Amino acid sequence: MRAALQALTDELRRLKTAGIRSVAVEEASLVALRRSLAAGPVAPPKSQIVPEPRRATVRPAAVPVRPPVAAAESLPEVPVVALPPGEKATRWDALRTLVTNDAVCRSNVRPGKKVVLGVGSLDARIMFVGDAPGAEEELQGEPFVGPAGQLLTKMIQAMGLQRGEVYIGNIMNWRPHMSIASGSEQVGNPPPSEAEMRYCLPYLQAQIEVVNPDLLVALGTTAAQGLLGFGSFKALGEVRGKWRDFGGKPLMVTYHPSYILRNQSNRSKRMIWEDLLQVMAKVDLPISDRQRAFFLDK
Ligand code: URA
Repeated sequence: MRAALQALTDELRRLKTAGIRSVAVEEASLVALRRSLAAGPVAPPKSQIVPEPRRATVRPAAVPVRPPVAAAESLPEVPVVALPPGEKATRWDALRTLVTNDAVCRSNVRPGKKVVLGVGSLDARIMFVGDAPGAEEELQGEPFVGPAGQLLTKMIQAMGLQRGEVYIGNIMNWRPHMSIASGSEQVGNPPPSEAEMRYCLPYLQAQIEVVNPDLLVALGTTAAQGLLGFGSFKALGEVRGKWRDFGGKPLMVTYHPSYILRNQSNRSKRMIWEDLLQVMAKVDLPISDRQRAFFLDK
């Protein structure tokens, strides 16, 4: 119970930092909380545990933690990013300081986890854009370092490049939350809400501005929605494999590497590969006959 109360107070602190001034608690939940408080001391002060007024639901039987997505719906104004003039590295460092100190980003990161900003060459000609950090990424503070990231690295290598020669960013700077039992680790990766994506987008735009790549590659539906606009297409098939525009830069939409992790067929791999061949051609990368023929075997 102590762990559950700790999780609850952590969550209430997080909501408070995100600008939430009140959460609602069912009477039954309050009774259960009072009972457990009477049973023994809990680390944080009592005032942080019993919020008011009472409106929504905190269930004591499961875990008394509300999904932070609700907080994300009422996120403050999107950040206005002002970077100093100068070298790319200076500007990127300033951006990194802004993002890692952003109160909303920080409040959405669980204890021990990190806000995530893009990585790679500041002179990259190609910028890949994913959706949101997962478990490995929020631990290391770097995008695409988990299983999907390892596959993305292989895709980049198949293009004849090294991972460090491109830039890899995400729509989101934090891992979207789901309700989890106290003391347990989040396993799934829910998609970010529109409000969350809208909040983080200026930080991605700032990375694009600093790096100034020749083109962008959106990986998967969420990234494509973030860049093309929420609701701008129904199925990824409508927009993938064709050149689009984002802020004056050519944008190629393709499948997310995790799609390949779930569909290991050469047909699926070939679909992404054809999109990447277009990307290679656009930046004048040499394409060998062998590369042209990748994943053609059924
Ligand atoms: N998937 C993404 O889209 N981004 C990451 O950083 C990790 C997995």
